[in-house]
Amino acid sequence: MLELNIPSKEHDEAKQGQALVLEASKNNNGRKLYIESYGCAMNFSDSEIVASILADDGFVTTADFTEADIVFINTCSIRENAEVRVRNRLKQFSASKAKNPGMIVGVLGCMAERLKAKFLEEEKLVDVVVGPDAYRDLPNLINKVDDGNKAVNVLLSREETYADINPVRLNSNGISAFISIMRGCDNMCSFCVVPFTRGRERSRDAHSVVKEAQDLFAAGYREVTLLGQNVDSYKWASEDGTEKVNFAQLLEMVALVSPDLRVRFSTSHPKDITDEVLTTIAKYENICNYIHLPVQSGNSRVLEIMNRTYDRHWYMERVEAIRRIIPECAISTDIITGFCSETEEEHQDTLSMMDFVKYEFAYMFSYSERPGTPAAKKFKDDIPEDVKQRRLEEVIAKQQIHSHYRAQQRIGKIEKVLIEGFSKKSKNDYCGRSDQNFMVIFPVGDAYKPGDYVNVLVEKTTTATLIGKVVQ
Ligand code: SAH
Ligand code: SF4
Ligand code: F3S
Repeated sequence: MLELNIPSKEHDEAKQGQALVLEASKNNNGRKLYIESYGCAMNFSDSEIVASILADDGFVTTADFTEADIVFINTCSIRENAEVRVRNRLKQFSASKAKNPGMIVGVLGCMAERLKAKFLEEEKLVDVVVGPDAYRDLPNLINKVDDGNKAVNVLLSREETYADINPVRLNSNGISAFISIMRGCDNMCSFCVVPFTRGRERSRDAHSVVKEAQDLFAAGYREVTLLGQNVDSYKWASEDGTEKVNFAQLLEMVALVSPDLRVRFSTSHPKDITDEVLTTIAKYENICNYIHLPVQSGNSRVLEIMNRTYDRHWYMERVEAIRRIIPECAISTDIITGFCSETEEEHQDTLSMMDFVKYEFAYMFSYSERPGTPAAKKFKDDIPEDVKQRRLEEVIAKQQIHSHYRAQQRIGKIEKVLIEGFSKKSKNDYCGRSDQNFMVIFPVGDAYKPGDYVNVLVEKTTTATLIGKVVQ
C-alpha cells in the first residue's frame, strides 16, 4: 500500500489499531476503558461515539490495555486479513484476562455484526458482542456482563444516526476531525461486506451536521471530513418534508460555517457524483480540491459483475467532468485485482485506466472473498493467489510512478497548507496537508503554529510528499 491518508483509514487496517484515550469523565465510576479501532474512518468515528456514551456512564480510558477493566476492539471485516489481525490481537488480550479475570472483553463493529453470537462460541474470551447500530445499549450490556452473563446486541437500525451524540474527540490533533453524515450502504457491490455489516443507508439531520462543524470550529478545529460510504447519495428531509438537503447542498452549508474551516469528504461513488457537487466544490475555496473516486476496475465487464452500476466510459466521463469543472482537482482511487474471472486483458484495462487518470493516490487490494456477499454466492473465486498478487504488484508499481509524477507537478507551486503538527521524522519540521491532500513538510518557524494556514513553496518531493519552505 502506497499512501495512507485520513479519509480512507480502512487501508490502515494493516497497521496496529489505534488506542484511544479519553479524558476524565464527569461521573467517574472508577473503571477504566481501553478502545482500539481498525478499519475505515467510519469505525474510528464510531469509537468516538462509543467513548462519548461510556463517558456519560462514568468510564475513564486508558492507553494501556493491561490495566483496563473493559477492553473493546472495534473491528473491520472488509478483507480476510482484517479479520485475522483482530483474532491475533484478541489472543494478546487473553493473557491480560488470565491475570485479571474480571476484565471484560468486547468486540464492536463490522466483525461483531458479521459473526454475531458465533463470536462468543469461537472466542471464549469475548464477553460482549455489539454491532455498529447498537452502541446506545452498551451501558446496559456491560451491566449484563457484570451480572455474570454474556451479552450480544447486533440489531441493525433503519434510523440510528447517533445525531444527538457529541463525539468525544479521541487521540485528536485538535485540528482535523471526522463528521459522520450517513450510515450504512444500499449499493450491494458484489464483493463487499459493508451492506451486511452496516445495514441500510440513512442520512443524518443536516442541521446536526452543521452544528457539529460549528462546535468543532469554535473549539479550534480547522478541518472536517464528512464521512459516508457513498456521500453523493446523502439525502435528508425534515420530518414535515418542507426541507430537503442533498450532498451538494450539505457541502455548501458546511463550507459556509467559516472560510477558515476546510471541508473534505469521503467516499464519492462514480455513479452518483453530480456536476452540482463538482460546481459546489469549485465555488468554495475552503472545500478541498480532492476527490476519492474508487474505480475498482477499468474493465466494463468486471465492473458489471462487481455490480458497480457504471462502466469504463461513464467513469472516464466523470473524470473529464472533474477536470473541466475543477481543473486543479486531485483524484484518488481504490482498485481490486484478481476479482472473479478477471482475464489478463481485463487487468490491462485497469492499468490503462490508471494511465488515463494518473491518480494522485491509490489504495490497492487483491480480491478477498467475503462469506455471504453476492460474489461469494454467485461467482467462483477462481484467480490463483499468485496471479492476484502479481497483478496487484503491477498496479502498485504503476501507481508509484503516477504519485511521483503528480507530486513533481507541484514543484515550484505555492500550496496553502493547514499545519497539523511536527513532522513524524523531525521536531525541526512541521507537516500539514495541501488543498489536494498532499502531505507537505517545511521548517518550523516563529510566525506560525499548528492550526494556522501557511503558504509553502514546494521545492522537492519524495514519492508522494512535498517538501518546501514558507513564503508570504
Ligand atoms: N464505500 C467505498 C468503499 C468502502 S470499502 C466505495 O464504495 O468506494 C474500501 C475499499 O475496500 C473498496 O473501495 C474496495 O476497493 C476494497 N474492498 C472492498 N471489499 C473488498 C474485497 N472483498 N476484497 C478486496 N478489496 C475489497
Ligand atoms: Fe461496499 Fe459498494 Fe457500498 Fe462501497 S458502495 S461500501 S464498495 S457496497
Ligand atoms: Fe469500514 Fe471495515 Fe466496516 S471498511 S464499514 S470497518 S468492514
